[in-house]
Amino acid sequence: MKVLVLGEGGREHAICWKLSQSQKVEEIFWIKGNGACEEKVTKVDLDYLKDRHGLLKFIKEKNISIVVIGPELPLSEGLTNFLQENKVKVFGPTKEGAQLECDKGWAKKFMHKYNIPTARFNIFTDYESIAKEILKLNAYPVVLKATGLAAGKGVKIVNNDSEAHAFIEDVFVKKKFGVQSGIVLEDYLHGPEVSVFALTDGYNVINLIPVRDHKQLLDGGKGPNTGGMGAISPIPGWTKDLEKQVTKEIILPTVDGLRNEGILYQGVIFAGLILTPSGPQVLEYNCRFGDPETQVIMRLLESDLTDLITATIDGSLDTVNIKWKDENALCIILASQGYPENYEKGFEIKNIEKAEKKGVKVFHAGTKISEEKTVTNGGRVLAVTGTDKDMENLRKTVYSAIEIIDFNGKYYRKDIGLTENK
Ligand code: GLY
Repeated sequence: MKVLVLGEGGREHAICWKLSQSQKVEEIFWIKGNGACEEKVTKVDLDYLKDRHGLLKFIKEKNISIVVIGPELPLSEGLTNFLQENKVKVFGPTKEGAQLECDKGWAKKFMHKYNIPTARFNIFTDYESIAKEILKLNAYPVVLKATGLAAGKGVKIVNNDSEAHAFIEDVFVKKKFGVQSGIVLEDYLHGPEVSVFALTDGYNVINLIPVRDHKQLLDGGKGPNTGGMGAISPIPGWTKDLEKQVTKEIILPTVDGLRNEGILYQGVIFAGLILTPSGPQVLEYNCRFGDPETQVIMRLLESDLTDLITATIDGSLDTVNIKWKDENALCIILASQGYPENYEKGFEIKNIEKAEKKGVKVFHAGTKISEEKTVTNGGRVLAVTGTDKDMENLRKTVYSAIEIIDFNGKYYRKDIGLTENK
């Protein structure tokens, strides 16, 4: 079969890499890709957000069997709806399903309606009403979330009135995150975080492995929030009982609730959880795979990814048996100096292949090919991944490979994979 993957980050490279290993896959088209080169993968430069009809023409001309949508934006804009209306098989929910991620107010009301554990909340649709509420607050921290997509910057843990006012001003007055219909104000929950993934065909569910994403820029979980600086799986302290509890209290009620709302959700549900002393609670949902979590998942997945994707779309996930490598996986992000704020691009990246000889797989994120050289093209540049039975050996392998890779401004965390790190 021929598969089309949409997106251009490390997540999509990992998906293409895994798909390329399938005997069932003849060719993978990747729109629009990045600097990565992978067997069977052809990169295509087409604007799938603006040129839907061009996209459809391409899908029909190339006789593509399945489209895998990586990022949330096309999902929230209804690309799945459009493709499904044109008889294309798509992995990724419709815009109604994507509300789980793309309308945080909708998601909170959904969780409340279906008794899915989450922090207490209130939704405000204008500056004056939330400003009044802030005056009444007598305990910090609290969490403020812009309801719509905000390029990963729309959530803020605030510690005092002035931080809270600055955020609501950014949202409602300065419109820093574009047009937002509101702000969710919610309790701050304490506990370790975990990213949980489940495939669903709308009825059946298959849990994937949980992953810990290290979101802070600096070692020890300090510094600003990022898209993710590294990931590990399995997670220390994760048990079968916890998985059962999460499935029963969160994943199944989510899928059933969506169906009850008239939404047949086909794709991945990514629940960002916090493990509080009173049990797991949902911090947020995402309607797509995580980045860099996917890089870890694909390294540990033994099953053929096309079987999982096909069963998700065809409604036959109940017939699939998923297999995982019994090893640790580790992913370290190499970022550009200055990320997540301002950084320069266009620096040549050297020695990726040499680093891979150490036994790692380097997924490209913010890279591109320029004048036949691989150069930096984003904040998160590369995701260096490895697997091993022993985490300490794995850390040594991955970090020794990282030392070899060279580009101007290379920055990475040194503590990913150390026990009990945030
Ligand atoms: N790593 C977090 C995310 O993909 O949203």
